[in-house]
Amino acid sequence: MGATILIGSQWGDEGKGKIIDVLTNQADWVVRYQGGNNAGHTVEIGAEQYILHLIPSGILHPGKRCVIGHGMVVDPIALCEEMSELEERGIDMDGRLLISDRAHLVMPYHRLLDAGHEKLLADGEKIGTTQRGIGPTYADKISRTGLRYCDLLADDIADLMRTQIERSNARLAAIGSDPLDVETTLASLMEAVEHLKPFIGDAIVPLNDALERDEKILFEGAQGTMLDIDFGSYPFVTSSSCSAGGAATGTGVPPHRIAGVLGVLKAYTTRVGEGPMPTELKDEMGEMLRSEGGEYGATTGRPRRCGWFDAVIARYSARISGIDRWALTKLDVLDKLDKIKICVAYELDGRRIDTVPARSKDLERCVPVYEEVEGWQTSISDVSRHDDLPAAAKDYIARIEELTGVETGILSLGPRRDSTIVLDDCLFG
Ligand code: GDP
Ligand code: IMO
Ligand code: MG
Repeated sequence: MGATILIGSQWGDEGKGKIIDVLTNQADWVVRYQGGNNAGHTVEIGAEQYILHLIPSGILHPGKRCVIGHGMVVDPIALCEEMSELEERGIDMDGRLLISDRAHLVMPYHRLLDAGHEKLLADGEKIGTTQRGIGPTYADKISRTGLRYCDLLADDIADLMRTQIERSNARLAAIGSDPLDVETTLASLMEAVEHLKPFIGDAIVPLNDALERDEKILFEGAQGTMLDIDFGSYPFVTSSSCSAGGAATGTGVPPHRIAGVLGVLKAYTTRVGEGPMPTELKDEMGEMLRSEGGEYGATTGRPRRCGWFDAVIARYSARISGIDRWALTKLDVLDKLDKIKICVAYELDGRRIDTVPARSKDLERCVPVYEEVEGWQTSISDVSRHDDLPAAAKDYIARIEELTGVETGILSLGPRRDSTIVLDDCLFG
């Protein structure tokens, strides 16, 4: 039993990158299992800041092995850029990075289709995607027309790609987008393909063999429960399985090998992109959370929508993914507040409900039922023991645990590695 899944428990950007960085020293492998470069995972090490999009955050730890699992969709050009940026900063990836041969390729036309589809949607229908081609690539995967990394190793890959690009031009024309120049597009793809070839291989056997040898695998989820294609606020979601279940289908590590699930949970709520968010604050308080928390997208730079902590969503996440412990992040962002609100339930059509309705139109109409608690009004960033936290901060954490039925294993009080309190070291069972 050597595999632990770390997931985002809200709408993404909970601080997964930071927590992965803190935990990587306990793991041998760090594995992404879904999503693509729509993700932006920030890691701060000393004065250095890294934002990882496709490569597992564990790559920043020398000697750790990293896998881009087959549940991901991977833009080869973006991956080459990310690799060379890391190499320029002294991160060596040789022999440490494996790209699953079953992962799907995000092609340049997928990005254009993503942008083109969004443009056709009316206000209120737009998803506000990252325009990284994620939705159209997963759509091609499910339609059984996608290209995979194993195809890049075939002799006829240039012909395969040419055919796909030519076909895509008809799809682009149908939505009023400009066509791609076939030969220029092919040339830039082929350059990336040559660079990536040595990193492509079967990932199912190495991961399962590693477990046989009692090595530890840490799964790095991207996005979060409320962006999950099945569990999220559909259609305002991403196109992959961000919840814990995705780790098995996205890598070939069987469910019974999973020892635990860690849910990364922000001490308040944020969302980037469109769609319902019951606790959103469109006032100065929301602005305060945005500026204190630095809530701007790590991938697109868009301002994140901010609001109070929503226990309905956290509880829903815990239930779906079987979360064993929370990694509670960004508690320090609330330092200055004298009163803090927690959403404990919703009211919908005069009825109190305590779970997330299926329809986004219903979630949009949900009115949060708030409870107000005391703030601590002092800086907690340098606190290194739970016992030394102000009583009000301890009470806030305890109330979240009570409302969600899950205890906290890790507390994060700042973006850097050392602003972390590990309360419970039961990561790999
Ligand atoms: P991810 O996508 O879940 O990895 O999260 P992002 O990297 O997109 O956004 C989280 C942001 O919060 C990053 O800028 C982190 O450096 C920062 N961060 C992470 N944990 C903490 C914390 O405990 N306190 C504060 N103040 N910032 C944090
Ligand atoms: P990390 O891993 C926050 C959001 C987009 C949009 C919706 C669909 O950093 O937490 P997509 O491009 O995936 O088709 O967009 O999902 N989204 C994220 N929001 N954090 C992310 O990743 C996200 N990845 C996608 O803003 O609303
Ligand atoms: Mg992010």
